[in-house]
Amino acid sequence: MNLLVVGTGYVGLVTGACFAEMGHDVICLDIDEKKVRDLEKGIIPFYEPGLEELVLRNFKAGRLHFTTDYRQAVSQSLVCFLAVPTPSDEEGRCDLSYLMDATRKIAYEMNGYRILVNKSTVPVGSAKLVEKTVSAILGERPAHPLRRRLQS
Ligand SMILES: NC(=O)c1ccc[n+]([C@@H]2O[C@H](COP(=O)([O-])OP(=O)(O)OC[C@H]3O[C@@H](n4cnc5c(N)ncnc54)[C@H](O)[C@@H]3O)[C@@H](O)[C@H]2O)c1
Repeated sequence: MNLLVVGTGYVGLVTGACFAEMGHDVICLDIDEKKVRDLEKGIIPFYEPGLEELVLRNFKAGRLHFTTDYRQAVSQSLVCFLAVPTPSDEEGRCDLSYLMDATRKIAYEMNGYRILVNKSTVPVGSAKLVEKTVSAILGERPAHPLRRRLQS
């Protein structure tokens, strides 16, 4: 399958590398350009046993790609995993701004059926929020065939 993992941190990079090892074609996307450039050079931003070998092997095999380009990544991927930060504030409230930013950017680039999977830690009800956000953005494109499918 063609998979997209948004956020190449502890969760996203490990997820993407493991999916690539299973034989899937994986794009790992991050907004941090330096991180993406480093990953393309084989520089892993943190230590996780076995991760470096996994990333290098699958990158060389052409199953693992790194990018900052939402348009290219979303157009090529059926399933989009969200693995962006959701930090808590001092009162324990979850900051969903990174998740919403990634959701909006995916929705703007959707050119067909996509499955969004949330791997970030979020409060109950966040999936509905993601769905509503995608639906609203597709609604801004009146003739878009995905609109009816999401609203049914
Ligand atoms: N680290 C863990 O062990 C762990 C375990 C369980 C759950 N989680 C949850 O998983 C999520 C990710 O955690 P992490 O530790 O991998 O975070 P991280 O900070 O290591 O990585 C997140 C990455 O997302 C990128 N990012 C931020 N906004 C983006 C956007 N709009 N588009 C693309 N990339 C974006 C950042 O540049 C960063 O590289 C969080 O919700 C966290 O609570 C983490």
